[in-house]
Amino acid sequence: MNKLFSSVNKRLLSLLLVIASTGTTFAQAQDESDLGKVFHIGVFIFFFLVFVVLLTLISYHNSDDGKVPTLVKAWRWINEKMTKATPIDQEAQVMLDHDYDGIKELDNVLPPWWKYLFYVTIVFSVIYILNYHITNVWALSEGEYKEEIKLAEIQRAELMGSGAFITEKNVTALTDPASLALGSEIFKKNCAACHGFKGEGLVGPNMTDEFWINGGGIKNIFRTVTNGVPEKGMLSWKAQLNPKAIQEVGSYILSLYGTNPPNPKAPQGTKWVDVASADSTKAVVDSTKKIETVKK
Ligand code: HEC
Repeated sequence: MNKLFSSVNKRLLSLLLVIASTGTTFAQAQDESDLGKVFHIGVFIFFFLVFVVLLTLISYHNSDDGKVPTLVKAWRWINEKMTKATPIDQEAQVMLDHDYDGIKELDNVLPPWWKYLFYVTIVFSVIYILNYHITNVWALSEGEYKEEIKLAEIQRAELMGSGAFITEKNVTALTDPASLALGSEIFKKNCAACHGFKGEGLVGPNMTDEFWINGGGIKNIFRTVTNGVPEKGMLSWKAQLNPKAIQEVGSYILSLYGTNPPNPKAPQGTKWVDVASADSTKAVVDSTKKIETVKK
């Protein structure tokens, strides 16, 4: 009985040490995502160890009828193969005959499980060196960092492309032919039905004069197109057009100023002085610029 307990206790003790060292790993993990990973691995190891402990306990329990279940037999077999420990009743054979203040030493072989672990680390070190330092198939921290920066640059370019950073406050009127051509396309497709193909006005107001109901200049136009004037029949376009597209179509509208298309709709709203100005700083609602109001 004593022998049985000392053997089980040794095992339990070493398993508890492993559990404790897992705990230390937890404490050292700083990054949250790493913590998550370590947590899952830790939980797995914990249950695995509980399983091993139970199996070990069961394997030392002799049933009354002397029959040993297959699982227990298999476990005992693995145990013997992996530890190659000398049974306690044969310990005298491997006892070294020196004595350190009462501590005796057994000349056991290195446990195979430990040696295999060591071989695994050797194999892993070769894989590690090859992949991290020779072929560079796996990225080192610096490489990972650069990769992330690259991805962020791409995302930034995408955001810039969709005009995610363009707002009513910082929008400027574009004057380059390419942007105006894009704006023209957007206008013909989405806006011409109400504002006329040349911006002369139909249901919606004339876009070629200097009179504006909701304020002229790119900033006001940007706001009107983004939010719409739903109660007056002008839709909000922010769901269909991204800020960049609204900037383009707004700039195109500004470029129509003074084009005098045929069949113009009569002016509506208030005269806007800087109507065609590309200088966005002037295109803010400013009462001093509302010179003259036209009756609808
Ligand atoms: C369903 C018809 C309709 C469509 C389509 C439409 N609009 Fe309008 N829009 C209007 C009406 C009506 C008004 C007048 C709103 C008001 O009285 O405040 C208006 C007003 C505007 C104004 C402000 C004019 C001012 O005098 O203040 C701008 C700018 C404008 N629309 C741009 C656009 C753009 C750009 C598109 C396409 C992306 C578009 N609209 C599509 C009907 C439309």
